[in-house]
Parts: sequence; structure tokens; C-alpha cells
Amino acid sequence: MAVALAAVATATRSILLRDVDHRISGLLTQESGEFANFVEEGRDPGTGERFTDPRTLLNVFLRRQYADPDEELLGLTPGRDHAPGAAPYVIRQNRDIPAHVALHEDRDALVEIFESTDPSGTLDRPRGEVRWAKVPITLKGDTATPDTTGSGRAAPPAAFVVAFHADAERAVADEAFRTLLAISGLALLMTTGIGWAVAGRILAPVRLVRTTAAQLTEQDLTRRIPVQGRDDIAALAATFNAMLDRLERAFAAQRTFVDDAGHELRTPITIVRGHLELMGDDPAEREETVRLVTDELDRMSRIVEDLLLLAKAERPDFVTPGPVQLGELTADVFVKARALGERAWELDGVADLEVELDAQRITQAMVQLAQNAVQHTAPGRRIRIGSRVARPGRIELYVADSGSGVRAEDAELIFERFRRGTTRRGSRTSGAGLGLAIVRAIAQGHRGEVELRPTEGGGATFVLDLPAPERQGKQLP
Ligand SMILES: Nc1ncnc2c1ncn2[C@@H]1O[C@H](COP(=O)(O)OP(=O)(O)O)[C@@H](O)[C@H]1O
Ligand SMILES: [Mg+2]
Repeated sequence: MAVALAAVATATRSILLRDVDHRISGLLTQESGEFANFVEEGRDPGTGERFTDPRTLLNVFLRRQYADPDEELLGLTPGRDHAPGAAPYVIRQNRDIPAHVALHEDRDALVEIFESTDPSGTLDRPRGEVRWAKVPITLKGDTATPDTTGSGRAAPPAAFVVAFHADAERAVADEAFRTLLAISGLALLMTTGIGWAVAGRILAPVRLVRTTAAQLTEQDLTRRIPVQGRDDIAALAATFNAMLDRLERAFAAQRTFVDDAGHELRTPITIVRGHLELMGDDPAEREETVRLVTDELDRMSRIVEDLLLLAKAERPDFVTPGPVQLGELTADVFVKARALGERAWELDGVADLEVELDAQRITQAMVQLAQNAVQHTAPGRRIRIGSRVARPGRIELYVADSGSGVRAEDAELIFERFRRGTTRRGSRTSGAGLGLAIVRAIAQGHRGEVELRPTEGGGATFVLDLPAPERQGKQLP
């Protein structure tokens, strides 16, 4: 803005100065023209005839003129016995010119103008610039002034001179320039002040966001930014708050996860330590202790493996899908599941189509479900395994058992980490409650879900509901 204002002021100044120059040129031309006219047309009031004497002509002319304040009208005629470089005789008209700039008192300037062969020019005097124009007078019947000096050079003819002191006019332009600069400076100051204030007000909420963010620590994520209004800043604050909500939940989840993991791992350690401390010398007792301790260590390593798997579930390469024959996959799972326990295993139905799945992970999830089914059913009871195309673009793999089933109030929480159903609480043989969490992680890795469905005749049915672009919708009965 400062640059723009300075440019405007400078441009204005040069336009004003150019106008002054034009006006002066116009004035000079006009006065010269008027005088030339008078020389042509004017009559001597004394004789009624045309003028014959330049001095009379100049006197008559100048008496009638009213000059501008900065204008000086002069008649110059050669003095008697005029020599080159001698001051001319001056007939002057203007009385208003201040003495310090007056040209008629400046002998050197007068000589320079009088002897100049140019019709106009510019004089640089210490007191300021003078623009002048000269009209030499040639009268009918007037013989050239005789050369009385013997120098061999004729004196210049009498002349009318109009001079203009440009400085006063220039000063007006400069004054305008200074005023403009002053106003610009003031405007700049005001704009800066207002800009400062407005920017401060606009940025105040941003500062609030910043200070709030600075006060947040990992331990204390409870602070929130007050949301005011409906502008972008309010939207920013709302987004920021939502992000804090997510962060807080994530941190809380992580903390409980670590707590739970620590708790789960401490139990087997306590048990191992207890058995070892109480171990006597009896070989049978020792054998029993070793068996129990090995059992607990197996359990521990299973928990650790599950935890590592769950940690891996956060990574993008957790699931690497490839083309898989769903029928073959289901049959493979069935064969592996059968080895888990003496149950009445049934391959219920097989959807025969090619889908994009991570076969290893899906098998892992299905075996996990089958293992749970075995844990919750008595030997010899029926467990069905199968796959089907539920609706176009969705496939389902399921394990349905005829066991105790899941209580309605547990239906949601059994899928969470370290959560076990109430029915089997206290049973040390069950796992750490990570199995269904892993199944869910695998399902979500395939952009699907795992669901617990109501089962005819009691028992639990766990279904992997996965998206699969349908290629051939054939389904075996
Ligand atoms: N087939 C099932 N029948 C009845 N309850 C089940 C079945 N599968 C899982 N559950 C319940 O869900 C809980 C969580 O299972 P899971 O995550 O595999 O942990 P864990 O097997 O280590 O207990 C189990 O404790 C159990 O209460
Ligand atoms: Mg389990």
C-alpha cells in the first residue's frame, strides 16, 4: 500500500508539473501573439499613424497590459551607444513582481535574453527558473540602428520580452505532492491500525486453538476449545475437538489394553511361581508341577502370540487378498476344524465361486471360531461349518454350534479384547478373551464384519460377513 500511495503521489506531481509547463508555454505564446498583432495593427495615439519608434510602441503596448502575478512583460531597446554586452534600455510594465525574482533588475539576464538569437528559452537563475519568449520589433520605414560603436556588429533590434517565473507554480505542484504524501501516510497509519485490530480479532480463535493445543498433554486430553459461531474458525475448532475425542478414546483404549494385557500375563506368572515354590521332593508331585507349569507357559505364549497378531492388525499389510476358490477354502477349514475335538462335524453348504480373500487369515479366523465352538459344546454335539452367497456381492462363512450359546448381554462385548462371556467365568482352561477380537480384526481387514446370529435349537452361530464381487453365483446345496 505504501508503494502504491507513493506511486500515486509521484505520478500526480509529475502530471501537475507538466500542466504547469504547458500553461506557461501557452501564456508565452499568447502574449507574443498579442504583441505581434499590436505591431501589425496598432496606431500611435499621438499621430494616429502606424508606429515608427519601437520605444513609443512598447510604451503604448505595455501601458495597456495586465500581467499575471508571476509574469513579467518588458520592452528592451538598445541603449544609446549600444555596445555588445551592454545593458539594454528597459521599458517595464509589471509592478507586482517581487523584487527578489524581478528580471528587470537583473542586468546579466537582460543582456543574455536581449542578445539571444532564439525566440524563446529558459534561464536558470539562482532565485529560480525563468521561461521567456522574445518578439523582435521590425517597423516599416525603420532603418536598422546605425552601428555607432565601430565594433562592426549591429546592436540587436528592440524587442518585446515576456518572462514567466515558474517557481511559484511549481511550488503549488510540490505543495499538492506534499499534502498527498501526508494524507497517504495518515491513511497508511490508519489502515495499519485497523488491519492490526481486525487481524487480531480474526486470529483470536486461532490463538485459542493454539494455546489449547499447547496445554494438551498425553495425560490430559480433556480440554476442548469453545465453539462459537458458524464460520470457518468454528468449524476448525469443532474438527479439532472431534480429533481430540478420537485421540482421547484411542489413548484410553490403549491404556486399558496395556492394563488388561499386563493383568492377563501376570496371572500365569503368579501360578507358575506358586507351583514352583511349593514343589516338594516327591517325583510324582514334581511331574505334576512340571505339567502345570508347562501348561501355564503355553497359555502365556499363546496370549503373547495373539497380542502380537492384534498389534499387527493395525498395519496395512495385515491382510493380503488373492484369488481364492471359496469352496476349497471352506473344505480346508472343515478338515482342520475336525482335528480340534470329537464332535459331530458337518460341512453344511459350500459356495463355489472365486473371491478375493486372504486365505491364511480367513482360515485362522475360522479355526478360532471352531475352537470356541469346541470349547462351548459337549463332546459328540453337532458343529456345522459352511459358506454361502448371502446376497449379491456378499459372502458368508459360518460356524454354528449346538452348545451353551452366548447370553444376550454378552453379545456385544465378547468381541472386545480380553473380554470373556459371563457363562464360563472362572474357567481357567479358556483363553485370554483375544480369540474373537482377532476374528473381528481379520473380518474388518477384509472390510467385512463378524456377527453373532441366533441359532435354532440353542447354541451360537458366528458368521464372517465379507464383501466379494460376485463372479459366478452358483451355490451347491
Ligand atoms: N461358540 C461359543 N459359544 C458360546 N460362547 C462363546 C462361543 N464363542 C465365544 N464365546 C464367548 O465369547 C467369549 C470370548 O471368546 P474369545 O474371544 O474366543 O475368548 P476366549 O475363548 O479366550 O474366552 C468367550 O469367553 C465365551 O464366553
Ligand atoms: Mg476363544
